[in-house]
Parts: sequence; C-alpha cells; structure tokens
Amino acid sequence: MAVRTANIVAARAVADAIRTSLGPKGMDKMIQTGKGETIITNDGNTMLKDMSVIHPAAKMLVDLANAQDIEAGDGTTSVVVIAGSLLGAAERLLGKGEERSYQLKIPLLIMKIVGLHPTVIAEAFQHAATKAVEILHSMSVPIQLTDRATLLKAATTSLSSKIVSQEPKLAPMAVDSVLRVIDPKTAENVDLKNIRMLKRLGGTIDDSEMIDGLVLNQQVLKSGGGPTRMEKARIGLIQFQLSPPKPDMENSIVVNDYRQMDKILKEERTYLLNMVKKIKKAKCNVLLIQKSILRDAVNDLSLHFLAKLNILAVKDIERDEVEFICKSTGCKPIADVDSFTEDKLGSADLIEEDNALGGRLTKITGVKPISTPSSSSSSGSGTTSAPAKTISLVVRGANPLILDEAERSLHDAHCVIRCLVKKKALLAGGGAPEIEVSHQLNVLSRTLTGTEAICFKAFGDALEIVPNTLAENAGLNPIKVVTELRHRHAQGETNAGVSIRSGGVRTDIREENVLQPLLVSTSAIELATETVRHILRIDDIALTR
Ligand SMILES: Nc1ncnc2c1ncn2[C@@H]1O[C@H](COP(=O)(O)OP(=O)(O)OP(=O)(O)O)[C@@H](O)[C@H]1O
Ligand SMILES: [Mg+2]
Repeated sequence: MAVRTANIVAARAVADAIRTSLGPKGMDKMIQTGKGETIITNDGNTMLKDMSVIHPAAKMLVDLANAQDIEAGDGTTSVVVIAGSLLGAAERLLGKGEERSYQLKIPLLIMKIVGLHPTVIAEAFQHAATKAVEILHSMSVPIQLTDRATLLKAATTSLSSKIVSQEPKLAPMAVDSVLRVIDPKTAENVDLKNIRMLKRLGGTIDDSEMIDGLVLNQQVLKSGGGPTRMEKARIGLIQFQLSPPKPDMENSIVVNDYRQMDKILKEERTYLLNMVKKIKKAKCNVLLIQKSILRDAVNDLSLHFLAKLNILAVKDIERDEVEFICKSTGCKPIADVDSFTEDKLGSADLIEEDNALGGRLTKITGVKPISTPSSSSSSGSGTTSAPAKTISLVVRGANPLILDEAERSLHDAHCVIRCLVKKKALLAGGGAPEIEVSHQLNVLSRTLTGTEAICFKAFGDALEIVPNTLAENAGLNPIKVVTELRHRHAQGETNAGVSIRSGGVRTDIREENVLQPLLVSTSAIELATETVRHILRIDDIALTR
C-alpha cells in the first residue's frame, strides 16, 4: 500500500511540474542539461526527457509523454496532466485516509467509500476510457485534406502554445510541406522523414523558407575552378574518394631517384584521371562525395580533373544524409568506381549555390521523380524504390535556443497534420472535448450501479483538469470557468470551451479557430489511462543487485 501511494505521489509530482506549461498562456521551462546546455521549451516531451527523473513510477510518466509524442506528436503536456489527475482520482478512490474519503453526490445513493480495490479501479477506468473515446468520436467533425484553411487552423492551434506562436510563417509552412509530400486525395499516412529541416543561425524566424527540392548544408567545391552552377544535373552520390589510396599500415617507401618519383606521380595521375573519366563516361555532371574519416574526399589533382571535365563537386556529405538525398534525387549511393553506371544517377533541373539563406548552401531544385517500372507506390512501408516526394525547410532564428524551439514546434505542427492525415477528423479545442466527456460520463454513471458508477464519475471529473489548467494558466478564475463550462455542456453546447482571447467561456470555441485533431485527444486519454492502470497495479518495488 505504501509503495502504491509513494508511486502515485511521485508520478503526480511530475505532472504538477509541467502543468503550468499547458495551453497558449502556459509558461516555458528553461532546462540545463548535464552537459551544460540550456534548453528553453514548452514541449511536454522535451521537458520531461531532459529532466532527470529518478523515481521509477515518475519515469513512467516520462515514457508516457514519449509514447504520446510517437503516437500523435502533440498533446504531450496534456497526456501527462491527465494522467496526474487520474492518479489523484484513483488515490481518492483507494480511500487513502478516512478524512479524504470520497463522497458520491448522486441523489439516489449517497455512500461513503472506504477504499476500492486497485484492480477494480483499473478496470473501471479502462471502461471509462473506452467510453470517452467513443464520445470524442461522436463529437468530431470529418475534414478533407484538400481543405487547406482548416488544416491551417489546426496547425496554428498547435503552434499557439509555443514561444514561436507569433510567427505567421510557420503554420503555412508546416501545412504546405506535408501536403507537398503526400497525395491529399489518397494519403493515409505521412512519412515525416521526407521533410528535411535545416537549421541556420541568423536572421529571424520570418526568414525561414520552404524549398521545393533539396538543400545541402555543404558548399560547392570551388578551389579547382570547377562549375558552381549546373543545369540539367545528373547527380551521382559516391562513397569512395577521389584521392590516392593510403597504405593500410605505417610503412614508408624510399625513393632515391627522380625517375622513380616521376613514375609514382604519373601513377597517381592516371589513377585519378581514370576514375574521373569513368564518372564522366556515365554522363554524371554533379558529384556528391560522402564524408570519410580515412581519406581526403578530393585532392587538388582530382579537383582539377573534375573542373576540366565540367563536373560540379560537393564533399562532406554526412552518412545520415545519404538516404534523404537518394530519396529526393532518385540516385543510388555508389560504393566503388567500377560500379559507377548511368542508371545510378539522379537528376534535377538545377543545382546552384545560394547565399540568400544565411551563409552558403547548395540548392537542388526541379527534382523530377523518375518513373521506375515497379512504381506500385504505397504509403507507410517506405521500401518502394521510386523516389518519394521530399521537401526541405530552412529554419532561421536569431539564437540557438529559439532556433531549436522553432524546430520542435514545427515538428509538433507537422505531427498535427500527420494526425489529420491518419484520422481525418477534428475536435474543438480549449478544453471542450474534456468537459464534454466529463459531462457525458457523469450522465452515464447515473445509469450504472456499484463501484463502476463511482469510478466513471471520478474519471470524468479528473478530465476537468484540462479546462481548469487552461483557465488557471491564462489568469482566469478556474472554478468559475469550469462551473460555467459544466453548465453550458449540460445545456447541450458541445463545443463550449475556454476562450483565452476573450478571457472566459465561449459558446463555440471553433469560431476562434481553436481546433485539434481527434487522434491527439483520443490517444492522450487512452495512453494516460493505460499508464495509470499500470501504476495502480504495482504493489511493490523490488531491487535487484
Ligand atoms: N487559442 C486557444 N484557446 C484555448 N485553448 C487553446 C488555444 N490554443 C490551444 N489551446 C488548448 O491548449 C491545449 C494544448 O496546449 P499545449 O500545446 O501547451 O500542450 P500539448 O499540446 O498538450 O503538449 P505539447 O504541445 O507540449 O506537446 C489544448 O487543450 C488546446 O485545446
Ligand atoms: Mg501542443
């Protein structure tokens, strides 16, 4: 019993710590990591991930936020706050202490509970959660992915709670980039890996740009005098180096006459020339070279040859960029010069250096997906050989803290749109769904009997934490707001929610464009309930050596 109580207290402490961050008027947290880095964030998952939580039950809430992040991407603060509130309800139901015993205010039966069994609570909560999800489904309104304006509202709502909420450019960028990589008519899922975000320090967030194509952080090599711009590019991505091989071990060659030296130099020349010629023969005119720690990517001589044969070169391509580059340009990585053939090249209309985006970047535009014979494109698996549509975003920001947060916020907005692609339905925001579920569970509990009735009511009441916290964080009187909301929902105003703008309750919060995906809310309730059930069922902690 003591262990269970301790677990609940520890987990609730975590939930309380991030409660102040919920909603558009929520506070941000500054976190100093063990490595001495500073992070400023409003994202629930990021906060919890970087806090050093030690208690194992409290860690379950950290994992919960992470699970929500994977499942829905947004709602990571809400899920933890809901779990904390459900744990509070469970604690009361467990009858911890006589003085805190739960009094059920149902006119028919007034009973004093002196403690329910944890598994009874866990099971009843599960049923209540299933019911809650049903209620959310019935409240939601279907949307079309072609309806860009509505998608924009959902993205704006998600961004409204972030530091970057005042930036008008981010929401359209998030929506357009997702719409660009999917087919809005048939898409069932979005692979967010097809959207590449490049962070560039300097400028303001408003200078951020969406580029239809590929942007590389690396610059074009100019020292050999080669081209810096190439139209009708045929792109080859190589994983070998254009420099003379180094011996495996440290051994030295003694050369003692000029003829021998000449011979060595000549060998090197022909070796490099042959490689570059082979590359040219395959009709490649843009060469991307993967970074290697063993050898130099190019040397002066090979650069000279490349320039002579009019091949543009970019070096230091990172290993983890290779997949994205291949996806966007349709090229295949080439490990060895002998296998350098034309079919492995990708193509683009133009590759050039761009100075406009804060520092030099290489921009590849006009990438056309190459039609491969087996173009049975299917979403999700990601194993198709046909190049997927990809897009690059260059995010600008005045300092690294803002830049990182802008990236995280943009990721949240992407996830919101992804949720809408997966499940094409929207809910009103501002605590309206939670209050409605609470109201309906309350009504339902009156038709039930016994412990289930009590648990359903407790579950519903616990969900009121969301509008309560939204109001509290916005400086409103939470009791007043929640009471009014309850009243409104009892009158059948399903979409009444906390209005931050007008500082009170609004009959239809959707008029303020506060909309959130159904998937975010349902997954928050499901995941929170699951974690609470797990915590309730633990009655002991054992240590092993
Ligand atoms: N303009 C608004 N007016 C009222 N409520 C809003 C508004 N914008 C957002 N909300 C509400 O704020 C809540 C979301 O807050 P927030 O984005 O801070 O947390 P989260 O989405 O749970 O977690 P995170 O974004 O950190 O992953 C939702 O309940 C949403 O309905
Ligand atoms: Mg959010």
